[in-house]
Order: sequence, then C-alpha cells, then structure tokens
Amino acid sequence: MASASRAQFSSRMGFILAAAGSAVGLGNIWGFPTQAASNGGGAFLLVYILMVVVLAYPLLVAELTIGRYGQANPIRSLQAILPDAAKNIGSVLAMVGLIAASCILSFYAILAGWLVGFFVSPLLVMLGMDNVAVWLETFSVGRNLLLMAAFMLATIYVVKNGVAEGIERWSSRLMPVLVLLFVILIGYIFTQEGASDGLHLFLVPDFSQIDASLIHSAMGQAFFSLSLGVCTMMVYGSYLKKEANLPKTAAQVAMIDTGIAIVAGLLVLPAMFVAQKNGVEIYNESGQLASSGTLVFDVLPATFETMGNAGYVVSVIFFALMVIAALTSSISLLEVPVAAAVEELGQTRKVASWIIGLAISVLSVLIIFNFGSLFDLIVVAATEYAQPILGLVFALLVGWVWHRDKVLAELREGNPHIAQGLFWRVWPAYVRIVCPLLMLYVFFAK
Ligand code: PFF
Repeated sequence: MASASRAQFSSRMGFILAAAGSAVGLGNIWGFPTQAASNGGGAFLLVYILMVVVLAYPLLVAELTIGRYGQANPIRSLQAILPDAAKNIGSVLAMVGLIAASCILSFYAILAGWLVGFFVSPLLVMLGMDNVAVWLETFSVGRNLLLMAAFMLATIYVVKNGVAEGIERWSSRLMPVLVLLFVILIGYIFTQEGASDGLHLFLVPDFSQIDASLIHSAMGQAFFSLSLGVCTMMVYGSYLKKEANLPKTAAQVAMIDTGIAIVAGLLVLPAMFVAQKNGVEIYNESGQLASSGTLVFDVLPATFETMGNAGYVVSVIFFALMVIAALTSSISLLEVPVAAAVEELGQTRKVASWIIGLAISVLSVLIIFNFGSLFDLIVVAATEYAQPILGLVFALLVGWVWHRDKVLAELREGNPHIAQGLFWRVWPAYVRIVCPLLMLYVFFAK
C-alpha cells in the first residue's frame, strides 16, 4: 500500500515537533486562557487536564495509529481499516473530516490574520505610519481580507514545499523560540502588582464551578487543542516510520501541548489582573469576559505597554510567535485535503496546495462579509460538533471494526516490546468502551 517514494518525517524529533506544532496554536495561547478565565480558572484547568488524559490522549493514539497503518491519505487509511463491504463508509468519513478541517482553516486564517496585524502594527508605528498601524488593529472588512490573505499565502507556501522541507523544518525551528519567550514574559509579569491574584485564580480550583457545561467546554477545548477528529493527526501519522513508538510519541505531543496551554495560562491570567489594575476592562457587569478577544488584544498589549520602549520589541516578538504557532497549525489543516488531492486525484502538491488553499480562502471571504452570522456558526459546527463526533466515530472504528489483534500488531510494528504492558492490553478495550461512553455522557449531560 505504501509507495516507496511517499514522504516521511525525517526524524522522530521532527515528527514530534510537527505534530506538536499542529496542536500548539491559537487554541493554547488564546482559547485555553480565555476558557479558563471564563470558567473559574483552576476548576477548568483541572477538568481540562483530566479530559486530555482520559479522552484526548487515547484518541490521539487511535488517530495516529490509523494513519500509520494506512501510510496514505485519510480516504485510503480509513478504507484500509474497514472490511471490503464498508470501504465507502471510510471515504465518506474522510470527506467529512476533510471538509471540517477546511472549515476550521477558513476561520483560523481570519483570526491568525488579526495576529499578523498586531505583529506588523508596532513596526509601522516605528516607521511613523501610525494611521496604517491603527487600521491594522481595527476591525474592518478590508483589514480582515488583507490579513487573512497574507496568512493563507504563507500557509500555502509551506504546504506546497512538502513534508520534510516545509512542515518539519519550520515547526522544529520555531516551537522552541515560542517557549523561551513565554518563560521570559512570565518572569516579567510576576514583577508587576496584581499578578498573584491571577495565579491564585488559575491554580486554586473552586470545585463549586465544575458543572456539565464546564466539562463539555473542557472536552471541546481538548479536542481542538490536540487537533483531533478532523484527520490531521491521521495524515501526520501516515508520514511516520514504522519504527516510531506511537504511544510514547503521542504522550510527548500531548504533554507539550498541555504544557504550553498551562504556560500560556500562567502568563495570561496574571496579566489580566495586572491590566485590570491599569484600567483595562476584563469582566463586564454580569461577570463575563468583556469579549473573547480581550485577553489577546487588550490584556497582552496592555502588559507590553507597561514595559516602556522594550514593550515594542516584546510585542513584535510575541505576536510574531503567535503567528508562527498559528502557521504550524494551519499547515496541518491544509495538509489534510492536499494529501488527499495528491494521492487520490494525482495532482502535484504544488497545484493541489494552490487550488485548495484558494478555495478555502473563498470560504474565509464569505465569512468575512457575513461575519455576524457565519463566523460563530462555522466555529461551532466544526469544533463543537464535527471534531468530537468524528473523534467518537474513529474510536468506535478502532474499538469495534478494526480487529483488536490488527490494532495491536500495528502498535507493535517496529517496536515488538511495546503493547506488551498492562496499559496496552487495556487500551483497545478502553477506546472501544470507555471513550465512547465518556463522550456520550459529556454530550448528553450538557
Ligand atoms: N490545535 C490547533 C490549536 O490549538 O490552535 C488548532 C487545530 C489544528 C485544530 C489542526 C484542528 C486541527 F486539525
């Protein structure tokens, strides 16, 4: 099934960084702190970690395993684990995943575009172009179109260059820089008055906040953050060598992703209280976050302003890294339909990247022109429904349809010693029974 010329990640580390690059993005740095700040801080953190361990991690292993077994795009990988009579179901599921990935990219590129604007704007101020700088930071159709297009072009550029040269190279270079900057900024924020209140909110859970809706939000956030359910991890898994130890690799990816979400929380929640002391409105009268953009577009710039001139530099670096984190995620989203078009339709990678990238941009344009009605709709449909439902279906396929012995044989490939331990004897049954039940419970309890 695997063709000899098919691309692969060139090293284990390269894969981990690329998969972690897909996982780490706006979801960690923007979504997670926003959710935590709206859902009782520590209580959300606790439930989120639980969701990653009991649900997201086992399903990440499942999705990677399907991809590596198939060594092909999701259409073929899903067909490969299904019996002959049901191959069509595999194609349909992959198409749904592919469309969902495209929808996520269509709104993700708009959000990431705003970050591009915040990255460029201080540079323009330094050049004396204050008007343009203000325009880039202010919501308008023109600005949204321009910045989305810029971000989408960057995404297309990386994907058209392929797996090792494009995706792996960029992810490996940029991920470590992101972590370093976070550590420096956390060090700074704790020299400011008010930071410890944020730390308290984030780390000391108020158990009375935990209810069905918080649990549901934590599950959605974990799925989004680990890029689950829309075949992204399946495609990345298909570029993995058989020697890769899947459970261990998946654990590393999940730990990096969760670690960065926590680090982002350690910066953003304290920064919230510091900004509040400096007059930025965080919560409105009804106790809700003033807006979902507050933390990234009000709180953080307010933090940078307290740093004097150094704040300009930090702001440029910070937003540059946000854009990069978003880019390593967006390339994984575009890779899903591109891999399918290359292998199923025989297109070259270059042509497929351009055509599909432009088609998704058209969807972004539609969203931008109908922001009030379309944006939330697409976000909710893709992340609250498509991601968890497809994740559930993948768990059911691995648990019930793909034979247990074949799953374990795939896990052991190239690594005969793994899948012997207790956990790996438990995992197939766990994905078969516990994961689906847990997910159904979280869905219906809400
Ligand atoms: N995991 C990314 C983030 O946290 O920003 C978003 C994402 C990427 C979701 C890829 C889904 C996906 F397939």
